[in-house]
Amino acid sequence: MLAILHQFLLLPVTLLRIARIVRRECSPAALDEYLFSFHGFHHEPEDRHWYMRTWDRVPVRDIAPDQVVAVPMRHLAAMLRVAIEIEAPIRTYSLESGEGFRLLLPTLSRFMGMTRQRAAAVVAAAAKGREVWCESPWCMEESRHGAMFARILSRLTGESVASETTDRAIPAAGGDDEAFAHLVAREATEWNAASVYVVMAAHTRGPLRAAVENIMRDELKHCMVLSAAHTVLDGRRYWRRLWLMLVKSIGSLRHHRSVRADGAVFVTTPCSFLEAAFAHALTEFHIRRHVERTPMSVLREMFEPASPRQGSACGERSVARGRRPAVGRPLGAASMLGASQRARRRELLAAEFECRHRLALDGFVREELDGFRGAEDLGSRRSRAVLGVIGRCSDWRLRDALTARLRRYQLVNNRHSRGRSVRSGRPSDACRRSPAEELTQR
Ligand SMILES: [Fe+2]
Ligand SMILES: [Fe+2]
Repeated sequence: MLAILHQFLLLPVTLLRIARIVRRECSPAALDEYLFSFHGFHHEPEDRHWYMRTWDRVPVRDIAPDQVVAVPMRHLAAMLRVAIEIEAPIRTYSLESGEGFRLLLPTLSRFMGMTRQRAAAVVAAAAKGREVWCESPWCMEESRHGAMFARILSRLTGESVASETTDRAIPAAGGDDEAFAHLVAREATEWNAASVYVVMAAHTRGPLRAAVENIMRDELKHCMVLSAAHTVLDGRRYWRRLWLMLVKSIGSLRHHRSVRADGAVFVTTPCSFLEAAFAHALTEFHIRRHVERTPMSVLREMFEPASPRQGSACGERSVARGRRPAVGRPLGAASMLGASQRARRRELLAAEFECRHRLALDGFVREELDGFRGAEDLGSRRSRAVLGVIGRCSDWRLRDALTARLRRYQLVNNRHSRGRSVRSGRPSDACRRSPAEELTQR
């Protein structure tokens, strides 16, 4: 009782800590790195960071119970047990994601799922009692979460928890609607995981906090990628997206409460509920704002089918390398179903303008904007100054083209890639898409 009163009295401090963590971890620089990591996995296979995000080194033996802050130990232990259970069904989800997203968004299928052949091998191995993991970045990153939480729990309480679950993923192989429902389910899960781990980080310090933050950053990366994928597929309907995620999250909360011994940890303690709700609101605010500040054409390029990894994980249904996607449906069967035709038309006209005036734009960026030098971070003073110059251009197509170039420049020169070499952000294949042809065939 005293511990709960202590948590209540420290609630304002905890909320401040949560706000600070989210502000730092969802900075434009961090989110640009996470968003680009999807593109990096497909186009820069030599960089292992895009395949599995590099963790800060944390010696688990340095984790100790006195690093738990402003929350009863049994409470944090309950959160850890729920997290271990939720993190467990990676293989099932990977199978469903690979199959479901294969048609909806092939690049996401490779990022989150596995091939049919690989799936068959995994099932065969599991039948013989052998554990075989898939090879996608999402799977590689998720597979380390449950194990790390189990080690943390063991250090804090001496408990040993097996990472097992009865959860099953939503079948996603039926068609676009089922695949989209699966996308929303995955997105809501990543949002919930990222927000809850933010709360856990706010209640820890030292090596314990560093260990939790490693996992939290993985989840924020997944959340960023899936939020961008959702926007590419369904348009900029953010309130609808939030509603879908909330409905799914409330369903998950009920589910966890009914099937898990510690599943009610966030419902029975008002302080923890408030902390989790606050973290959810902040992560959604930052990620949504980041998606809003990225032009649709640039988001679409992140998810475009052409990839050196074509066929490595998606199998025979993928679009063949170099082949132009279907007109009006560039990213899969359900692509842009929800996007406004007006926005799409504007995007195509801007792309056509970019193609026609590519050299002039190159010169303008070089001469007037100093090649965007110093504007690598979205929201920085230099970035705002460049946007100010762009905003004074009279032609909206010029403004759109330059804004897209700036965001492309910021993404390719994200904080991880920066320093290797500065890249221009010039579109590599915008003209290959022939926007005029697309417009005429609409
Ligand atoms: Fe996870
Ligand atoms: Fe995740």
